[in-house]
Amino acid sequence: MTDKTLEGRVAIITGGGRGVGRSIAENLSAQGAAIIVADNGGDVDGSNEDAAIAETAAAALPGPALAYTKSVASPETAQEMVETTTAEFGGVDIIVNCAAILRDGLVFKGSTEDWDAVIETNLSAAFYLIRATTPVLRQQFKDNRGSGEAYDWGRIMNIGSTAGLYGNFGQANYASAKAGLFGLMRITALEMVRSNVTCNYIAPFAHSRVTDIIEPANDEQAEYKARAMRVSPDHVANFTSYLCSPEALDVTGQVFGVRGREVFLFNQPRPIETITQADKDWSNEELAKAVDNNFREQFTPLETDLEAFNTEPIV
Ligand SMILES: NC(=O)c1ccc[n+]([C@@H]2O[C@H](COP(=O)([O-])OP(=O)(O)OC[C@H]3O[C@@H](n4cnc5c(N)ncnc54)[C@H](O)[C@@H]3O)[C@@H](O)[C@H]2O)c1
Repeated sequence: MTDKTLEGRVAIITGGGRGVGRSIAENLSAQGAAIIVADNGGDVDGSNEDAAIAETAAAALPGPALAYTKSVASPETAQEMVETTTAEFGGVDIIVNCAAILRDGLVFKGSTEDWDAVIETNLSAAFYLIRATTPVLRQQFKDNRGSGEAYDWGRIMNIGSTAGLYGNFGQANYASAKAGLFGLMRITALEMVRSNVTCNYIAPFAHSRVTDIIEPANDEQAEYKARAMRVSPDHVANFTSYLCSPEALDVTGQVFGVRGREVFLFNQPRPIETITQADKDWSNEELAKAVDNNFREQFTPLETDLEAFNTEPIV
């Protein structure tokens, strides 16, 4: 996409220095948006920050761009970043919460330190940025920022993961953070709809340094890795670009997945069957019988996301 449909719009992209985030930054920049590449350049586990990652990515973009190199896992950084962005570019219209780290470990061995670091980076940072940005977006709506017509540009994207929807071995902290991003997305979508701001959740499947370092523990994981290596992150960027378009103004509160040229719409947990006991409390025996008769066939299987998406991607 190279037409300038996002001219005058401003996007903050956390994790925009590499992988999926960088691809999103390139796509939105090519359409004319000013970009804040918010990336501390750390290793996959969050250690060893490197400012050059965001600086290089921002410098390579075709349009106006700023690098923001502090960790986004801080309320003060989020506030400061939004203030710097509005001072520099006059507003902020799009945020993409894409920064994430990985510290895998089985749930019965997981450390508190790893839990806290992953929740802070992968979930709390998104809350900090949404909290800092939404008052600006609400005000921009009241002021009809930009065109003289009703402001209809606010877009928030939480980059999630199927690990947070299905689960995966060894990812208690990561999956919990990604599941939390789902709840945060729903609340933000509900609370911002009246200001014409959408919020959606995108689970990507894409080649990045993270797929490079998967060490397959079995044949299934080896197959998953081989497939993942063939899927460009540009497809996720392309879908993000659609969500930023006028055609997607009323697309909000949804969970999508993007794998190559496949786009998935996920359902969201709702009661699918009900059993009732009108006039007395349930006994265990009665519950066991009713669950067997009415629920059991519809139980959600204990499968991982790797097993669920064990098919050839369309690239
Ligand atoms: N690649 C996939 O197939 C895949 C699958 C599921 C989910 N995801 C999600 O997509 C997003 C991007 O993943 P990726 O594969 O491109 O990973 P990546 O590691 O290549 O990119 C993540 C970027 O986030 C930055 N980052 C991490 N912590 C930060 C912090 N505290 N402050 C600022 N920047 C920080 C890193 O420096 C890095 O550049 C992540 O949210 C990830 O969980 C990716």
